[in-house]
Amino acid sequence: MQREKAKNKGWKFIGESGDFTLERPEETSYLYFPLANEAGMLSAITPVLHGDIKSGHNTFFMPPVSVEDLHNSRASRNFWVYMEGKGAWSAAGNSAKQTASRFGGKEEASVMEAGFLWHKVVRENRSFGLKAEIVSFVPAEAEQAELMQVTITNIGDRAATITPTAAVPVYGRSADDLRDHRHVTSLLHRIYVSKHGIEVQPTLSFDERGHRANRTAYGVFGAEGEGNAPAGFFPVLEEYIGEGGALDWPEAVVTNAPPQERAGSEREGYEAVGAIRFAAAELQPGESKRYTIAMVIADGRIETERLACEYLSASRFDELLAQTKRHWQRKVGAVSFHSGDRQHDLWMKWVTLQPILRRLYGCSFLPHHDYGRGGRGWRDLWQDCLALLIMEPAEVRHLLFNNFAGVRIDGSNATIIGANPGEFVADRNNIPRVWMDHGAWPLVTTLFYLHQSGDLEFLLQEQSFFQDIYVRRCKEKDPALGADGENKLRTEDGAVYRGTILEHLLVQNVVPFFHVGEHNNMKLEGADWNDGLDLAPDKGESVAFTALYASNLSELAKLLRKMKERMGVMQVELAEEIGVLLDTISGSVDYGSVSAKRELLERYYDACPGKVKGRKTAFDIGRVAEDLEQKANWLKEHIRRNEWIRSGEGYEWFNGYYDNDGARVEGDRGNGVRMTLTGQVFAVMGGTASAEQVRKVTASVDRYLKDPEIGYRLNTRFGGIQQNLGRAFGFAFGHKENGAMFSHMTVMYANALYKRGFVREGYAVLDSIYRLSADFERSRIYPGIPEYINEKGRGMYHYLTGSASWLLLTAVTEVYGVKGALGDLTLEPKLVREQFDKNGEAAIDTLFAGKKLRIVYRNPRGLDYGEYRIGSVSYSNARFPAETGGPSCVIDRGLISGLPDEGTHTIEVMLS
Ligand code: G1P
Repeated sequence: MQREKAKNKGWKFIGESGDFTLERPEETSYLYFPLANEAGMLSAITPVLHGDIKSGHNTFFMPPVSVEDLHNSRASRNFWVYMEGKGAWSAAGNSAKQTASRFGGKEEASVMEAGFLWHKVVRENRSFGLKAEIVSFVPAEAEQAELMQVTITNIGDRAATITPTAAVPVYGRSADDLRDHRHVTSLLHRIYVSKHGIEVQPTLSFDERGHRANRTAYGVFGAEGEGNAPAGFFPVLEEYIGEGGALDWPEAVVTNAPPQERAGSEREGYEAVGAIRFAAAELQPGESKRYTIAMVIADGRIETERLACEYLSASRFDELLAQTKRHWQRKVGAVSFHSGDRQHDLWMKWVTLQPILRRLYGCSFLPHHDYGRGGRGWRDLWQDCLALLIMEPAEVRHLLFNNFAGVRIDGSNATIIGANPGEFVADRNNIPRVWMDHGAWPLVTTLFYLHQSGDLEFLLQEQSFFQDIYVRRCKEKDPALGADGENKLRTEDGAVYRGTILEHLLVQNVVPFFHVGEHNNMKLEGADWNDGLDLAPDKGESVAFTALYASNLSELAKLLRKMKERMGVMQVELAEEIGVLLDTISGSVDYGSVSAKRELLERYYDACPGKVKGRKTAFDIGRVAEDLEQKANWLKEHIRRNEWIRSGEGYEWFNGYYDNDGARVEGDRGNGVRMTLTGQVFAVMGGTASAEQVRKVTASVDRYLKDPEIGYRLNTRFGGIQQNLGRAFGFAFGHKENGAMFSHMTVMYANALYKRGFVREGYAVLDSIYRLSADFERSRIYPGIPEYINEKGRGMYHYLTGSASWLLLTAVTEVYGVKGALGDLTLEPKLVREQFDKNGEAAIDTLFAGKKLRIVYRNPRGLDYGEYRIGSVSYSNARFPAETGGPSCVIDRGLISGLPDEGTHTIEVMLS
């Protein structure tokens, strides 16, 4: 380890499994690392073991932390060593003394190392002659537990007498209590001391659910070596720190006071701490001792004996750690990339992990994500499924099917999502918003599913609709609805109404077609993808998402034709009320007339006011397809013709929005150009933009949004707070949804460019995101993609972001070009020259049709994208029957599903 304060060069990957190491990690603020498992343990840990531990909003083990707490409060996990003749040392680097000597101190060296999903910090102190290695993880496939093992080694040349104390503050209640009766709720605490540790079980819980008897218990337990019980405990926080003391300079440790409590004692009504005193020990030079600590959340009193056997020994710790590493390696290993840049490939492993983390944490529970109560939004639910379709495809059909139960008959959807698949909760208290983009994402994800699987039958499966008290896209309430608490749409005679998945998709995508503002684009309603565009509910329009709905309508039309062709489906049955929306069949509406569209929508709302008749009408499938196609074409033409704008300098792009005064948002304003990336992405992705327009869009993006420091910004500087558009503009420029490099939209921009064959341009975008994220000197985050890069270049809101799903999707289906075409396997590589390794090879490991495939592209002549064609495709040294000679080839699904279940099957593709 380097002792000098070396210029921080950032993390480095070690080995081939994604493990990385970082010197002096505590010299970077705001770093945090996730530790979690499927059982619901959710931890965050920093290089000095700060962070928190919880299993939900109402069950925080340690006090909830936001990023600023990471350096302001010292209420964190700690491990102290009192050394005779020397005094107190925090093996975690978390003492007032160590913080004070951080700038210029040369006494200590530290290095962190981490992998999937474990965290280690090694710290040496020359003056104490001690080295501490602290490993933390949450055992996979186990209960709600976090384990920590501390190995203390004498690196001096004399025997040392040490007295260790582990200390973890136990908050043990709801996050709400942080500033809602923090003290009063500590009076509920009952603290039980047992042989290995302490347990807190509050008598009642005071939170959003009211005052209720509480069962949840929180415990900290420890043992030395193979299970030696501690010497005693200091369970009451104020007694542990002492009058005038602090968690980073506790009296009990600093004065080496004898332990206050032993097994069997009980305390009541105080803030608690799992302060565990181990027996004093003499360490000879080179000698080590290991201490294992378990932090557990349980439903009911903790079975302390079982817990000690399960966790509290050095050998058991090693076993569980190895098992946890294997578990996550297996999960992340479902996809992997091999290119000319090994660093990038390893970085992608962390991106691959991120969608799993978002499934576990929701959008809450890491230090930047100090909001929400653990649930996920509707949009995020669907984006996360994109990644799951790549990594855990077998489970996704069920998930998608259940998610459709959240769709209302007016095309809007439930926004409070329950813990179990298909569980949607009525919003009884607020006037809920409708995010106008919500209806578009289910088709994006379902299309991907249908292409990967070929399972067109899915569209004909019947599912219920959601119905709470809200009707007319949340503009009105009918308290009589949803009164039974079931929140399902019913027919007039009270039966639960069920319609096909196709019917759900139709209302989601067709209703917005008629729900337009005065410029005949879809209304912005509560906001769109950009949650911060929330101040234009009356006259605001989102041209950006009108373009996505337009391509969705085209895709739906294509699907219907495929159903006819492949399944012989001639008619689709829809609730008779829906007929009015298919106006080219049931009547005729002038699409150019805003009032005619609105009037039609009113008729539809009147026909199904939170219930339907229950009668179905059969429509000719071809005519429905035609109706949708006409709508799609009209929209695309409308946007191309009316929303294509030009700056004074002659750059051209799409206007993405109208504000609440009905005024066009983008363009040259005299005081600067206003442009959004969102306004371009979906017009490019879904084919609204012609190839010529895509070219012009890229030039405008490069001119107005590309910043040499922070990459592709979400928007230019609008100036002023835009009270007629959205709160996002209240944020300082260059932050979050106001002009930061917002990864999700930037990745979708890259995806759109690849889709349209603008591969060099798409590659430049992805490469920029990677470089910004992986440049530790500036981004100051561990490997992975952050939600955004701020104006300083810092990576923010790391780990929990929809951009990870989209990056994975784009890498697999566009860059490596491995994707389904209604069940068959298409290979259409869009790799540029420098993505091949020195042997001219690039490869991807991924799942398709239930088989593990390794697709190897060979490019011996070092050709660039556009110069190569598919030369031959072979498997096991034999030619695979696939049409070659073009930029892509299709392999019959039967050939893949016929391969043995076991092992990885290598398909070699020669590019020529
Ligand atoms: C977050 C939200 C996402 C929203 C976006 C822009 O992005 O989770 O739903 O669309 O902000 O407001 P993410 O963190 O997923 O990158």
